[in-house]
Amino acid sequence: MKRRNFIKKASATGLGLVTVSSTFISCDETSEKKEAIVSTAKSIKPLVIATWETTLAVDTAAAVLEKGGSALEAVEQGCRIEEANEKGQSVGKGGLPDRDGDVTLDACIMNEKGDYGAVLGVKNIMHVISVARKVMEDTPHVMLVGDGAEKFAVSKGFEPENLLTAASKKAWEAWKVTAEYKPIINIENHDTIGMLAIDKKGNISGACTTSGLAYKMAGRVGDSPIIGGGLFVDNEIGGASATGLGEEVLKTVGSFLIVELMRQGKSPQEACEMAIGRIVNKPGKDFKNFQVGYIAVNKQGETGAYSIHEWFSYNVYKNKENKHIQSDFFNKA
Ligand code: GLY
Repeated sequence: MKRRNFIKKASATGLGLVTVSSTFISCDETSEKKEAIVSTAKSIKPLVIATWETTLAVDTAAAVLEKGGSALEAVEQGCRIEEANEKGQSVGKGGLPDRDGDVTLDACIMNEKGDYGAVLGVKNIMHVISVARKVMEDTPHVMLVGDGAEKFAVSKGFEPENLLTAASKKAWEAWKVTAEYKPIINIENHDTIGMLAIDKKGNISGACTTSGLAYKMAGRVGDSPIIGGGLFVDNEIGGASATGLGEEVLKTVGSFLIVELMRQGKSPQEACEMAIGRIVNKPGKDFKNFQVGYIAVNKQGETGAYSIHEWFSYNVYKNKENKHIQSDFFNKA
């Protein structure tokens, strides 16, 4: 992913709106009301938003939606593209390893019903986003970690494989020569993909997958697989996802915060900006040395994104167009 190869900044909110009924079907509503909602649903246009320059992943998700597939299926298929992209060194195969040389992956997924599945610290399985979906759909749990998650994945037919590519091994070996023995707090090592989608029925789902902080301590887990941290979806309100230094996202429960701010009437853009404010305005916070970026969408199909520093971008698929957009950012000094 070429993060600095941005197209010109465009308005994320000016690309056209998804038409979504603000009325929700409850179990005691009449069939007339349901019919009215179904006819409104015909005009809903699919939407995808994802962190970074993830054009192919977003196109893949959009193709699922245009064919009438669910938002859940779209975000899973989109994230799988980046997990299989060996050139992206912070997601899936080819991810940079922990300081012991092990690639460990984190992922989570959330559907329109508010169900959630996650896997943490998984070795040897490339498509952890699909394993997270299996956790959500095939177990009574929401999270599986480490060996247990890998064992579960294998039981579901996932093939174990070596995730450490020659390029990532070389980078790790070079890091070992000079590195202080601590994780590197550097955005160049972050490319987590967070993805949110709205399908033709107006349902929202989201997914997030990463290899986490490069050269992290063995066992370290960031925000990406944690509900409310790296991802949160409420189908009546919208969704949010995060990239960047997971510790800072977790300390402010960033994605949950954004959805709750939208519930209180903030736009996705305002909510993302307030969530970044929650981090940078902490007394003595040395935000110049780390990056966090957020994306968000609301039920009306409005999108927003904001980051601490300028080196964050995202892709939006809307009205059959996939645009790569540089995020607005806080640290303009
Ligand atoms: N946002 C990815 C991580 O901190 O692990």
